[in-house]
Amino acid sequence: MKHEGMDGIESFESPGKGRGLRATRPYRIGDLLFSCPAYSHVLSVSERGYICEHCFTRKEGLAKCGKCKKAFYCNVECQRGDWAMHKLECSAMCAFGENWCPSETVRLVARIIATLKVQKDRSASEKLLLLKDMEANLDRLDNEKREMNEADIAGLHHFYSKHLDFPDHQALLTLFAQVNCNGFTVEDEELSHLGSAVFPDVALMNHSCCPNAIVTYRGTLAEVRAVQDVGQGDEIYTSYIDLLYPTEDRIERLRDSYYFSCDCRECKTKSKDKAKMKLRKLSDGPRPEEIREMVRYARIIIDDFRRAKHEKNILFTATLLEMCELSMDKMGAVFDESNVYMLHMMYQAMGVCLFMEDYDSALSYGEKVIKPFSQLYPAYSLNVASMYLKLGRLHVALGRSSAASTALKKVTEGKFHLCI
Ligand SMILES: C[S@@+](CC[C@H](N)C(=O)[O-])C[C@H]1O[C@@H](n2cnc3c(N)ncnc32)[C@H](O)[C@@H]1O
Ligand SMILES: [Zn+2]
Ligand SMILES: [Zn+2]
Ligand SMILES: [Zn+2]
Repeated sequence: MKHEGMDGIESFESPGKGRGLRATRPYRIGDLLFSCPAYSHVLSVSERGYICEHCFTRKEGLAKCGKCKKAFYCNVECQRGDWAMHKLECSAMCAFGENWCPSETVRLVARIIATLKVQKDRSASEKLLLLKDMEANLDRLDNEKREMNEADIAGLHHFYSKHLDFPDHQALLTLFAQVNCNGFTVEDEELSHLGSAVFPDVALMNHSCCPNAIVTYRGTLAEVRAVQDVGQGDEIYTSYIDLLYPTEDRIERLRDSYYFSCDCRECKTKSKDKAKMKLRKLSDGPRPEEIREMVRYARIIIDDFRRAKHEKNILFTATLLEMCELSMDKMGAVFDESNVYMLHMMYQAMGVCLFMEDYDSALSYGEKVIKPFSQLYPAYSLNVASMYLKLGRLHVALGRSSAASTALKKVTEGKFHLCI
């Protein structure tokens, strides 16, 4: 029997890209193309206590699970609704105590396995693509990726064996590869990471660095909206990565995580690369080898910082801030303030200042970043809207109501993609 499918959107074979999604009627900027409930989702450990585990609503006064005291819910309905998932972790968290530390991917996969057991029919998240048919790119995994998947499988057995029957090893390898290639990180309106989820229909979208659609979240529902007009028959593309960076960096990231070479307009023309790599104005500009060396340094420091950030604690924030300041000093000898590597460190410094509740410093970093962000990201970018939102909220916190309303107006100009 033919299943229902979706109004206005269909799946098709996109030449050179596997399956893709395309519009069967025209859409205008801002239109909702479709929405998709999470097939499975998991809240980040760091968000516990602030957000309901079941529906991802952020509010004060959530009620905690009486047994483990680690999961929090809006009310009894949410707690009941979540039990089939939470029971995978509730007693294990008590038993393992401090040593309970599965990765978020492992936690998500455990929930997928539990859902697969009970979900026999096509779910509302699979109108066009079944979870089991998601792309795995198995033949493209290198040894490093295989070893990472093996480590995740070991973690799954270690933390979840009491409450789950696992499929065989090969099926688990496939499942982890599928989740790595098709999983989504769920973010709030300020782009803070809330958790991870799978949305099979949304995962049918291929990537472009000049996307005509974006994905936002309302609780655990993914909403896909047009950020360019979409003609009948046009393929619908979203971006898998942060689009701030120059072509070479984007291509490397896409190859490493998704195993393809992007051939979008921006990757071909590199039209924004010069502005993204803007150099400091000097009478005799930096030599090519100086530039190359500084780019190499920038990439290393970005990686080092990402690793260091994971050890988030109050004492550590001073070190993180120092890393940002030292690297900006060094890079500033060659790069302009609007160079993306400088912007990257300013953005990180802003995050550290927010964490330390130093709102004046956070604001001054944010104000340096916003103009180049608006020029370097595509139109209707979530990164730009969320930066205006952060600035608006900072102005509010600092009692500057007129600056706050100017910033918040910028958010509402593109309000279709932010539910604030
Ligand atoms: C989330 S899936 C997208 C749907 C996928 N095409 C399918 O058939 O299931 C991601 C994978 O699709 C392929 N893909 C996505 N965007 C692409 C692009 N712009 N060019 C080539 N392949 C792409 C890559 O194999 C990538 O790992
Ligand atoms: Zn709830
Ligand atoms: Zn519990
Ligand atoms: Zn591209």
